[in-house]
This record gives sequence, C-alpha cells and structure tokens, in this order.
Amino acid sequence: MTRIPIKLPGASYEAWIQSGLLSRAGEIIHGTLNGPRRCFVVTVPAVARLWGKMLKQSLSAAKHEMEWLMMPDGERHKRLSTVETMAERMVERRADRDSVVIAFGGGVSGDVAGLLASVYMRGVPFVQIPTTVLAQVDASIGGKTGVNLREGKNLLGTFHQPRAVLIDPGVLKTLPAREFRAGLYESLKCGVIGNAGLFRLMEEHPAQLLARESWLLERVIGASVRLKAAVVSQDERESGLRRILNFGHTVGHALEAETNYRHFLHGEAVAWGMIAATKIAESTGKLSAEDANKIEHATLAFGRLPKVSVKPRNILKRLQSDKKTRNGQVHFVLPVVLGRVEVSADVHAETVLEALRHIEQLSNRSGKGGRAKGA
Ligand SMILES: NC(=O)c1ccc[n+]([C@@H]2O[C@H](COP(=O)([O-])OP(=O)(O)OC[C@H]3O[C@@H](n4cnc5c(N)ncnc54)[C@H](O)[C@@H]3O)[C@@H](O)[C@H]2O)c1
Ligand SMILES: [Zn+2]
Repeated sequence: MTRIPIKLPGASYEAWIQSGLLSRAGEIIHGTLNGPRRCFVVTVPAVARLWGKMLKQSLSAAKHEMEWLMMPDGERHKRLSTVETMAERMVERRADRDSVVIAFGGGVSGDVAGLLASVYMRGVPFVQIPTTVLAQVDASIGGKTGVNLREGKNLLGTFHQPRAVLIDPGVLKTLPAREFRAGLYESLKCGVIGNAGLFRLMEEHPAQLLARESWLLERVIGASVRLKAAVVSQDERESGLRRILNFGHTVGHALEAETNYRHFLHGEAVAWGMIAATKIAESTGKLSAEDANKIEHATLAFGRLPKVSVKPRNILKRLQSDKKTRNGQVHFVLPVVLGRVEVSADVHAETVLEALRHIEQLSNRSGKGGRAKGA
C-alpha cells in the first residue's frame, strides 16, 4: 500500500493507492471520518454496473448507509443542472452536514461530485474514488471542482479538498483501451516535468503498461500523484508553479478546441502538445536532441494517436487569441532536461509553426488518419 500525504494550508489528507483497495473503501472512510456515515455516491451507470456492487458491499461492511446519485455519462452532463438535481435528491433523502459525498468514476463524476460537496449546505465532507487513469493521476488530486457553461469548459467551480483519495488501479482493467492510454499521457507529462525516474519507467515498459500490469500501474500512478501533490501543495490556487502541469496543454487545448472537442480525447491532444512543446524546446536550443527524441519516442510508444488534421496556422491563431495570452505572447512550458521544465513567453511564431507542422507530419506518418477508433 502506498499512502501519499497531501498537505495544504487548510486541509491535509492522503491518497491511498493499492490494487484491490476498493474492497477496503468502507473501512478507510470509517477510519478517516471517525465512524459510519451516510454516503451519497456520485457515479455514472457504466461504473456502477461494473464496480458498484463491490463498493456497496465495502461500505455496508463498515456500517455506512449509502445512496446512489446517478448521472448520465459524458462531458456534456458536467453541468450545474446535474449538481442541482443531485442536491435535491440529497435533501429528499435528508442528507445533512455529516453526510459524505463520494465521487466514484472518472474526472466528470469527480468534478460534479466535488462541486456538489462544496456547496451542499455550504460544504460537506468529500471522498474521491477515481476510476479512470486520468482521474487517478490528475483530476482527483488538488481539490479543483467544476462544471461547464455553454461558453466554455470549467467556468463554474470551487476549490474543495477531499478528505481522502482512494485509488484502486485494479478498476482500470475494465476501462476502454483508448481512455486508458489517454490517461497515461498525463503520467508521462509528470515524468517530463518533474520526475526523470518516472519517465524512464514508462519509457522502458510500454507493453507492460498497456497490459495494465498492476505492479507497474501502482508505481506509475504513485509517482504521478506524488508529483501533482507536491506541486499543488506549493501552489494550491494556481499562481505560478502549478503552471508547469500545463506542459503539452497549450497546443493540446488549442487542438481540442479547434476540433470542437470531438476528435481527440483530452490526453491524446496533450500527447501531441507535448511533442510540439518538445520540438520548440529543441529548436530554441533549450533541450538536447537526445532528450527530445526520447520524449517524442516515449509518447508515440503507447500507440497511434488521432491524426492532426487542422491547419497549423489556425492553431497558431487560436493560441495567440487565447484569453490567457497576454499581448500575443504565448506561454509555453518547455522541457530543459528530462525531469525539469521552464516557462517561456518569447517563442517566435515561426518556431511554433514549425513544431505544429512537425506533429502534423508525424501524425500522417503514424496512421491512416481520421478519428482513431479505440476499443
Ligand atoms: N479537477 C481537476 O483538477 C481536473 C483535472 C483534469 C481533468 N478534469 C476533468 O476530468 C474530466 C475528464 O475525466 P475522464 O477522462 O476520467 O472522463 P470521464 O469521467 O467521462 O470518464 C471517461 C469514460 O470512462 C468510463 N469509465 C470510468 N471508469 C471506468 C472503469 N473503471 N471501467 C470502465 N469504464 C469506466 C466512464 O463511464 C466514461 O465513459 C473532464 O471533464 C476534465 O475537465 C478535472
Ligand atoms: Zn490534462
């Protein structure tokens, strides 16, 4: 069992990581919250069908009462109306301030449940049980909650830290292959920005990772959580350091937006974004060709990525008009050596274009194109 402390000014909790942990969830929640509670479990039908019984048994064995708060699957249901419906359900069921909201699913369930927990009666305890790679290594750590507006993603949200994060890599065995891989890129990102050992581990074992070997998943997830925990502990509200987590995300977000969030999974767009940022770092002389090759190679080793079929010029335009961009200066998180990055605001447009052309060419080479039909 790995237990990773997450220490923030107003909150301190642990992430627990072990294959099979789900069957101990009830007991751990009992211990962390000092006794049995009424648990309101936010989830989607697919996760409830696959893993709900195990969670329910574990909670009742530890004398917790539980109620499902089911939401429809998918990013488009990450809306305030979903939170409202669930809150009404909680009132009906007489949930009080001692009740616990549990997020049981991917990042969507986590963001919705976190927001619900932070506003229901001005805040109730919250526990994360993430079930996708992306949620286990990224979304469940750091306390950001949120829902989407028509005008953009995550525009409504709060910070609400969980009391515990329970990570069972064993539940990943039912995750569709494409979702599984997409989450791995966020771990690879953690390696590049802050842990060369994690990078090497992933670089050396792509086949075992894709086979979801549990010893390896535990180590990779553990190292990713540790890295994210360290970053958010130093910068809970995203002033400076937390920006390094955006490695690959500058171009990644632009690719997602330019394709209306339909062509790439988030992690896939980030994978292309990491390759682009690596290219920029190499052409500006910040990163050695050797390290650049390693990053590119390791990223592509997890299999084919959906094709980049958008015009480099359109991506550049999008980058320059991004709300976060000041005076047309785009901020890039650039690797300088494996395990270390810096933020740079003075990359020439031509250098960015060259990197965008590079990923476009790579994507033509590595696949026939079109949307990758993952399992
Ligand atoms: N709060 C944060 O800090 C943070 C960070 C990163 C991402 N996010 C958010 O996370 C969301 C994306 O999360 P996601 O990629 O996990 O998407 P998701 O929650 O939609 O899950 C992806 C799919 O996997 C299925 N699934 C989940 N667990 C499964 C399992 N064990 N077996 C089989 N199927 C399973 C779900 O039903 C869903 O269809 C986005 O909304 C993003 O904004 C939040
Ligand atoms: Zn991301």
